[in-house]
Amino acid sequence: MNILVTGGCGYIGSHTCVELLNENYNVIIVDNLSNSKKEVINKIETITNKKVKFYENDICDLIELDKIFSKEKIDVVIHFAGFKAVLESVEKPLKYYRNNIDSTLTLLEVMNKHNCKKIVFSSSATVYGNPIKLPIKESFPLHTTNPYGTTKLMIETILNDLYMSDKDWSIAILRYFNPIGAHKSGLIGEEPNGIPNNLMPYIVKVANKELEELKVFGDDYDTKDGTGLRDYIHVVDLAKGHIKAVLKVIKDKGIDAYNLGTGKGYTVLEIIKSFESVNNTKVPYKVVERRKGDIAACYADISKARKKLNWEAKLELDDMCRDSFNYIKNKKDNRR
Ligand code: NAD
Ligand code: UFG
Repeated sequence: MNILVTGGCGYIGSHTCVELLNENYNVIIVDNLSNSKKEVINKIETITNKKVKFYENDICDLIELDKIFSKEKIDVVIHFAGFKAVLESVEKPLKYYRNNIDSTLTLLEVMNKHNCKKIVFSSSATVYGNPIKLPIKESFPLHTTNPYGTTKLMIETILNDLYMSDKDWSIAILRYFNPIGAHKSGLIGEEPNGIPNNLMPYIVKVANKELEELKVFGDDYDTKDGTGLRDYIHVVDLAKGHIKAVLKVIKDKGIDAYNLGTGKGYTVLEIIKSFESVNNTKVPYKVVERRKGDIAACYADISKARKKLNWEAKLELDDMCRDSFNYIKNKKDNRR
């Protein structure tokens, strides 16, 4: 089986490539390196002791993508490529609509032309907006609060319309909750450029003394300790969920959406506590105003993925905190 992975050099894509190779799939990555580095390819190969094919291309480039599909026999596509920064998407909506929508339309057109009609798509819990209740089920109403989220919802709509027009397609939409952690080798992980927006990358930089202190955005939410509560999932568990989704699209035609989370929620203070204790370190913090646009709590109902994909997350919060820090410490050691 040949799996084409768009955005395979990125955070979730690289971990998924490792799991695919471990399961003996052939992996072909297409990535333009707009938010990743080529050295990730070597790291994936070192971890797995297997080779990947890599095309440094923009998937908005129809001519080049068509050439790749003519050259390779692709069985399934996993589509990670896209921009993902919520705040930037508010400031530069056209950049987000252009890249996320254009790349997907181009990819689907080329897939259609080459009669490759099996796709796993990276969506996000952001499509639930401010959920009506918890835990969040896939059937809940969808609405978005920022251009990034709207691109995800638009792509879900495009995929639904595509399936309605041609029932030969097999489409799995995966709605990720909050992926954190890194591969236990410490070779691949998440390291955003500049000052991180998300909680775990920020905590890691504080613990690593690159940033002074964490700002906890509000402690007056309706949660157990007043701080925001989220469903954090280890990126390796998430990657394994993609293997199950690949099996599903190979087996069954149709379109369906699945929550990938743990079903458990942790607050910001719980994350800090677990991080400090498992890594034997300190994370100085101060409580500040709520961040605009944040919701109080968000966690998944995971019963659909468990039942239909035969998948559930296995790793715990301590594993997530340990592996997130291990990646950054490992990078620092390698630079010495
Ligand atoms: P990432 O930025 O680390 O990876 C995305 C990869 O896609 C990068 O390697 C980038 O270079 C590549 N890329 C972007 N545009 C491209 C294009 N036009 N052509 C070719 N390559 C392109 O992001 P990630 O965290 O691994 O996320 C992967 C997917 O999952 C994204 O679609 C993201 O929106 C979605 N997602 C992520 C999260 C999260 O918290 N990380 C949560 C929900 C959904
Ligand atoms: N938080 C802080 N301080 C920080 C960063 C975050 O207190 O410096 C808090 C937030 O207020 C929130 C929690 O930590 O309560 C998690 O925040 P993140 O920014 O890590 O994650 P979000 O849940 O806000 O958003 C993430 C992704 C979105 C995605 C969403 C749902 O960034 O792209 O999960 O999947 F849409």
